[in-house]
Amino acid sequence: MAKGKLLIGLDIGTSSIKFCQVREGRRNYQLVNFGLAYLPPETIVDGALIASNTVADALRELFESHRVKGREVAISVSGHSVIIRKISLPPMKAEELRDSIQWEAEQYIPFDLNDVYLDFEILREASPDSNQMDVLLVAAKKDVVNDYLEVIKEVGLTPRVVDVDCFSVQNQFEINYEVPLTETLALINIGASVTNVNIIAGGITMFTRDISPLGGNQYTEELQKHLDVSYDEAETLKAGGDLGADSDAVVPQEVERVMYGVSENVAAEIQRSLDFYSANSAEGPISRIYLSGGTAKVPSLYRIIEQKLGVPVEIINPFKNIEVDGNRFNLEYLREVAPMATVATGLALRRTAER
Ligand SMILES: Nc1ncnc2c1ncn2[C@@H]1O[C@H](COP(=O)(O)OP(=O)(O)OP(=O)(O)O)[C@@H](O)[C@H]1O
Ligand SMILES: [Mg+2]
Repeated sequence: MAKGKLLIGLDIGTSSIKFCQVREGRRNYQLVNFGLAYLPPETIVDGALIASNTVADALRELFESHRVKGREVAISVSGHSVIIRKISLPPMKAEELRDSIQWEAEQYIPFDLNDVYLDFEILREASPDSNQMDVLLVAAKKDVVNDYLEVIKEVGLTPRVVDVDCFSVQNQFEINYEVPLTETLALINIGASVTNVNIIAGGITMFTRDISPLGGNQYTEELQKHLDVSYDEAETLKAGGDLGADSDAVVPQEVERVMYGVSENVAAEIQRSLDFYSANSAEGPISRIYLSGGTAKVPSLYRIIEQKLGVPVEIINPFKNIEVDGNRFNLEYLREVAPMATVATGLALRRTAER
């Protein structure tokens, strides 16, 4: 039985802040609250909080307008400030490892260990056929994490868990989808500036990589440059909207052409990571790709990834197995924003006393 109280999942992304709150129903989780607030460009750059006041204001306003009950949140970080390594160690108890983790991490983490928060998870215990255990080592830069913690405390929230984006995606995936024990899957979360790759074989993480900068901002920047439009206009065009009175100046085919070019680059970058994994792994080939993040909504990207990699691609619906009351929530809106809600939903499944 899972212990501890469910937390509010809070995903502070480059382009928007998302929160998600669920409770346990009799059969499934039920959605209690969800909200999303866009952030102006340059508020967060490369995972670092540049304009923390802007984030604090947006956060306060988001929680007030949605009348959020509860103060304890789970957040996550990603990008350059996070290092994840899968390592093999001789068998030992979790408590023993906790005592020696600092020393073990020394050889794997390319940062000064005084500057990082360290955590680990035992993925696979040693067995008769392998006398080593698999451990996932996670290090996150203190200064970056502390900036997030400070903003959160400033608005009166209490951070209880700090997770990593690619694991929140996995957390969400496990309640919504069947995790096949005989197949290899790639979970790819493509946001505005970071793409999180998490390859899972036999139900366990085999490989993770955060590719940055890689994501929706590349489309926005290219559209701005080629079509001479503002950030907001480019965001509108990207999502298939038109610019109203000014729309004459923009040729839809041109938008599509620019976006197609970016999709090719993004897909090639993703392919490089998956190829790197395949070349260094004894597991079977990747049989399915699950995309999430707002950029998963770019139609050409989805198609190009499917063509280039020759495996079926599916877009994640993080609310798939979560009961949503149609009288309380706008279902069409939730469908629209679902790919962007993936990390927040995974975080909402975290508990106060998980480990
Ligand atoms: N309909 C759409 N078509 C194309 N792109 C979209 C659409 N909706 C959202 N996006 C893009 O998705 C991105 C936002 O996705 P998401 O919310 O997953 O990222 P984020 O969490 O804010 O950023 P990151 O994780 O990189 O810090 C933006 O670049 C946005 O323009
Ligand atoms: Mg994100």
